[in-house]
Amino acid sequence: MNEIRVLAPATVSNVVCGFDCLGFALKEPYDEICVRKIPKRGVRIINRDEFDLPTDPEKNVAGVALQAVLDAAGADFGFEIEMTKHIKPGSGIGSSSASSCGAVVAANRLLDGRFSKLDLVNFAMEGEKLASGAKHADNVAPCIFGGFVLVRSVDPLDVVPLNFPPLFVTVIHPQIEIKTADARAILPTEIPLKTAVRQWSHLGAFVAALAQGDYQLLARSMEDFVVEPARKSLIPEFEAVKVASTGAGAIGGGISGSGPSMFMLSENEETAQNIEKFMHHVYSRTSIEFKTYISTVNAKGIVFL
Ligand code: HSE
Repeated sequence: MNEIRVLAPATVSNVVCGFDCLGFALKEPYDEICVRKIPKRGVRIINRDEFDLPTDPEKNVAGVALQAVLDAAGADFGFEIEMTKHIKPGSGIGSSSASSCGAVVAANRLLDGRFSKLDLVNFAMEGEKLASGAKHADNVAPCIFGGFVLVRSVDPLDVVPLNFPPLFVTVIHPQIEIKTADARAILPTEIPLKTAVRQWSHLGAFVAALAQGDYQLLARSMEDFVVEPARKSLIPEFEAVKVASTGAGAIGGGISGSGPSMFMLSENEETAQNIEKFMHHVYSRTSIEFKTYISTVNAKGIVFL
């Protein structure tokens, strides 16, 4: 077996109340990734999409993640990666994470599965560090584990897969790019204790609501007192999308990752479609192109082809 193909899904991180520590995987969109063993050491990158991402492995998120795998394996060979991305870079739905996670999961299969899921999250985080300047696992952990995931600690890595009730997700992706590093640079470096208490009580309640399938508590818990106030001005019509979606029956939602995508959770498909209609209505009044997606929560994460 010299070649492995995978589909690596988009992910929603932060999920409003859990900045840098909470995320879940979507069913779509996803990237198609093929990794093969090559005799030459190092990583070779072939891009099969229109995004013109770097082919220098040191500047490519999948490149650094794969090199981390090769180093840990002490390999005397290399990997070639063929990447067909459908998740636009800078979208806020885990584009870099899909690239690096798909790469390391496929590479691990070529190495007879010698690394654990936690090892793979650690390797994929090298890609996140390159993309955003910070090691965070709230996209890569759900991409690799599937479902909803809480990252209790990054160093040492401690990932807690969460139980969750049936949920539908509506995503709107305005076709503008927000670089995660820029969206992080505008965040407060300190917050008042009172704000911290409000935030961690909401996160705790959200996790409990997921476990209990309590949609009302989920709704009450989806508030962000720390990050959303700093970032929402980066996203055109943010408030209008939120108000329209809530009116259409959304449980709650907000910025997906560092934006510009926004996501809304709902209990059933009909409501998810209704929310999509309202999102279309809001964005049709702007000159900004956009895409929408409806998905359930993806319990599997990466899929082998
Ligand atoms: N938690 C990260 C952030 C996700 O919001 O900056 C972006 O990749």
